[in-house]
Amino acid sequence: MGNPKIQRLRELRSQSHQGGGPDRIEAQHQRGRMTARERLDLLLDRGSFREMDAFVQHRTTDFGLDQQKFLGDSVVTGWGTIDGRLVYVFSQDFTVIGGSLGEAHAEKVCKIMDMALKNGAPVIGLNDSGGARIQEGVISLGGYADIFLRNTLVSGVIPQISAVMGPCAGGAVYSPALTDFIFMVRSSSYMFVTGPDVVKTVTHEEVSHEELGGAGVHSEVSGVCHVACDSEGEALYQIRRLLSYLPQNNLEDPPFISNGDDPLRMAEELDSLVPDDPSKPYNIKDVIHLVVDDGQFYEIHENYAANIVVGFARLGGHSIGIVANQPMVLAGVLDINSSEKAARFIRFCDAFNIPVLTFVDVPGFLPGTIQEHGGIIRSGSKLLYAYCEATVPKLTVITRKAYGGAYDVMSSKHIRGDLNLAWPSAEIAVMGPDGAVNIIFRKELNQSDDPQQRKAELVADYRLRFANPYIAASRGYIDDVIEPRETRPRLINALEMLSNKRDNNPPKKHGCIPL
Ligand code: HXC
Repeated sequence: MGNPKIQRLRELRSQSHQGGGPDRIEAQHQRGRMTARERLDLLLDRGSFREMDAFVQHRTTDFGLDQQKFLGDSVVTGWGTIDGRLVYVFSQDFTVIGGSLGEAHAEKVCKIMDMALKNGAPVIGLNDSGGARIQEGVISLGGYADIFLRNTLVSGVIPQISAVMGPCAGGAVYSPALTDFIFMVRSSSYMFVTGPDVVKTVTHEEVSHEELGGAGVHSEVSGVCHVACDSEGEALYQIRRLLSYLPQNNLEDPPFISNGDDPLRMAEELDSLVPDDPSKPYNIKDVIHLVVDDGQFYEIHENYAANIVVGFARLGGHSIGIVANQPMVLAGVLDINSSEKAARFIRFCDAFNIPVLTFVDVPGFLPGTIQEHGGIIRSGSKLLYAYCEATVPKLTVITRKAYGGAYDVMSSKHIRGDLNLAWPSAEIAVMGPDGAVNIIFRKELNQSDDPQQRKAELVADYRLRFANPYIAASRGYIDDVIEPRETRPRLINALEMLSNKRDNNPPKKHGCIPL
């Protein structure tokens, strides 16, 4: 016979591990979803999970809730490691009262977040919940607000990552929304402030859960979701990968992970990658893949505002954030969504000491009433602001067009670019040759006997004089013009040269970014 007290502990722990019980676990599997604990098993290094508060219970008696008590309540919390590095986790347990959040659930999440802040390690939240526990009324709302406050206070101090793996509705969406990255699972997770029934009542629209707030919509249309995955397992794996680029907190540097890719490797293909015809597109991701370590690029917001590309990679083992105009989509123009996408990414990198590498090929800002009325002025200024305030090492490579305000915005020398390089194919001017000639030679063209011929001459002359990197280089706005093949070694050398960079902004409570 074992010690009865230890026996009791084991029984209670086993009961806690059962969550809502075998039937509800079965129902969860029937929905095609894993349980809270199964997810943690996949997310964390094997055997590393240490649970807290497995014996916590709610204290509510209203609406018969006193008959529904579960050890640990509706969330599993604790810490563990990913690739040997500490992370704090909470995983909502849908098998317990629909994963709904009441007082006890909120207290458990807050405890973990407080520990994560104090000990400087990321928090990962796995969300699967019916939202505020209706029977607990305003206490649930208070619990959410306690979490929102912490999400905000730890923002920029420790990385916060959310995976939405089931329902996430109502005000509950704002906890993941306040975190740095949201992962969603196609066909099984959704996020919305008001569900299809309310939508139908208020606006008479008929819309499914998936159409209203599924992974597809949020990763392509709203931009709420950063990474959409085909399965829960993939989402958990992608979170592990993402963390490999991030430091534990804002006082640390991101991990240096050396690999076999030679820092001096040239990429000859780059010399012929940019088409001679400036109106022909090419894929900027080809440039990225050829330059970074082992061609590995961890893209964020892959299918949202695809006219700008953002994501993480390594150069010579150093973690970097990449922002790149994408000539393949809308000619790489800056618009509302792409400006905000990039601005947010840059601010994240800056908060967490991740150098920013910018590839520039941008014809300007997107014209039109939709953009102007939608506030492109405000959105573009966010991108400008993000680049201006960033003090991490900033490297810029102009591959082709850098026109107009977009030249200034895209990490130019003037806004504290540390090393600004251009390829010989770079064209840096107030606007493209066609538009420029139309404006500055309007009178002459109107009076010309052969305006077409004259325009062609003027465009050719403008291109010769302005559509190159050498005027900017003669002013020192470009630090060097390089052969494309040298890009990788030059950037790695620059990162190492900047490894002790110190730069500060004037002391202030916080800036007033034009939100
Ligand atoms: C209490 C809840 C609950 C909730 C689900 N349950 N949501 N209990 N409070 N919010 C319970 C159900 O009663 C059920 O219990 C069990 O969880 C499983 O739920 P089902 O409905 O059987 O599951 P399913 O059919 O998969 O539907 C899931 C669901 C649905 C779509 C999430 O349960 C639902 O619509 N729930 C309510 C969502 C909601 O309106 N929440 C409030 C949002 S406002 P039994 O015992 O029958 O198995 C909000 C405000 C936050 O969250 C404010 C922050 C500022």
